[in-house]
Amino acid sequence: MDYFIESVTLDKLQSDCLLVGIYENQQLCPAATQLDAIFNGLISQLIRRGDIKGKVAETLLINHIPDSTIQRIVLVGLGERGKLTRKQFRKALATAGKVVKDSRVKTATIALLDVDIAKADIVWLARQSVEVISDAMYQYTSTKKCDDKIALQGLTLLCGESQKTLAETGLAQGAAIAQGMTLTKQLADLPGNICTPTYLADQALMLAGLHPQLNCQILEEHDMQALGMGAFLSVSRGSRQPAKLICLEYRGCETQAKPVVLIGKGLTFDAGGISLKPGQGMDEMKYDMCGGASVLGIIRAASLMNLKLNIVGLIPSSENLPDGDANKPGDIVTSMAGKTIEILNTDAEGRLLLCDTLTYAEKFDPEVVIDMATLTGACIVALGRVPSGLFGNDDKLCDDLLQASETACDLLWRMPVWEEYQEQLKSNFADLANIGGPDGGSITAACFLSKFAENYRWAHIDIAGTAWRTGAAKGATGRPVALLSQYLINCATA
Ligand code: BES
Ligand code: MN
Ligand code: ZN
Repeated sequence: MDYFIESVTLDKLQSDCLLVGIYENQQLCPAATQLDAIFNGLISQLIRRGDIKGKVAETLLINHIPDSTIQRIVLVGLGERGKLTRKQFRKALATAGKVVKDSRVKTATIALLDVDIAKADIVWLARQSVEVISDAMYQYTSTKKCDDKIALQGLTLLCGESQKTLAETGLAQGAAIAQGMTLTKQLADLPGNICTPTYLADQALMLAGLHPQLNCQILEEHDMQALGMGAFLSVSRGSRQPAKLICLEYRGCETQAKPVVLIGKGLTFDAGGISLKPGQGMDEMKYDMCGGASVLGIIRAASLMNLKLNIVGLIPSSENLPDGDANKPGDIVTSMAGKTIEILNTDAEGRLLLCDTLTYAEKFDPEVVIDMATLTGACIVALGRVPSGLFGNDDKLCDDLLQASETACDLLWRMPVWEEYQEQLKSNFADLANIGGPDGGSITAACFLSKFAENYRWAHIDIAGTAWRTGAAKGATGRPVALLSQYLINCATA
């Protein structure tokens, strides 16, 4: 999709579909007021007739306007004037996005940068408008034809002449983040028989080919063997697909600035291994690579924005399947860090990949290390599917991530990583057990990881509940690409 900024007045506007905001109690946004005047009170008439009240995320499509260069108007409800929140704005825009998608127009114009929301400047409004509309337009097409819908090709944001520079900034960020999220969703939605570790590695190499700031290196199983990654490699033993450790380096500044290291779990299918998962819903374990797909999406966004900082993306990728050669409960493996691990449940495989990757991350002398992983079902029990779980050993880093999450509206909730929980990870036969029992499962998983992240500032984001939607609307969300992109924007401009 192409994005544009324009500052024409509405009486001169040409548009297939124009989005304008209305509040409750017959209050119109400035753009809607102007339209109402241009069309002789059409909008206030529709409101008086009761066709739309203006509640948050209510929409009304006016799909025929005689003798006008504006073909369609979508009225977007924004609730009570002065009370609109950032979350509500996104919700309203997403609903309007669906209307635009269903109306099959090729181009649309948004006149919503004139809304008043606390803590939302023009940059934010422009960025979010692009992100939310792009998200609403996403369509999976890799293995299924999309039912004759015409995809939106152009989106224009209207703003005042004086706001143009800020709107351009927001639009560029939004377009980059939207492209990153689309990449993440496309990869995540692919089935496990197409999106294998080798496929993910090829995608990373292709991405690196698109941007001169990127350099990609793939570590093969023999490389990992040489590094002593016994925990990671043990997970892949039951799979016929070779494991890969994808290393993607983004150089956005010439100086020797320490990089932000991003690690993403890239399990392209998690059957649980010998500790086999139940059949119900097991197909969703193709999404166990969402952390890895997010790292690719974030680095894509950072490259498009040309962020002035250095980033390293590390994606440990493998399958977890039952097999005669697979890990067995009770097996003990030696991690790259030298710690031995008793595998009491082969389904707790994510931490086995991640612990060796966390150790490997030390070689980059990181400023911070942030891993993202569909790590535990327990995180969904604790937090539901609203925020991702945040864990970490550094308050400043966690606060920075929480702040970015607020701005991006990609929610995050901090959880404890306290020494008291380490008790649950004791093993009679190894330095650590890979599971901590039924209590606080997302926390003990984070505690396990923390033992491999002691030499730098580290945060872990459990995206088990947020990386994809389950049920009728099953599909990847592209989270936490917006959150991390915002974090990186903040880092680059600090
Ligand atoms: N990939 C799963 C976690 C998961 C499960 C994410 C369901 C989203 C939805 C992970 O590898 C796993 O299987 N974790 C186990 C850990 C347990 C054995 C300690 C889990 O959550 O059941
Ligand atoms: Mn598992
Ligand atoms: Zn898993």
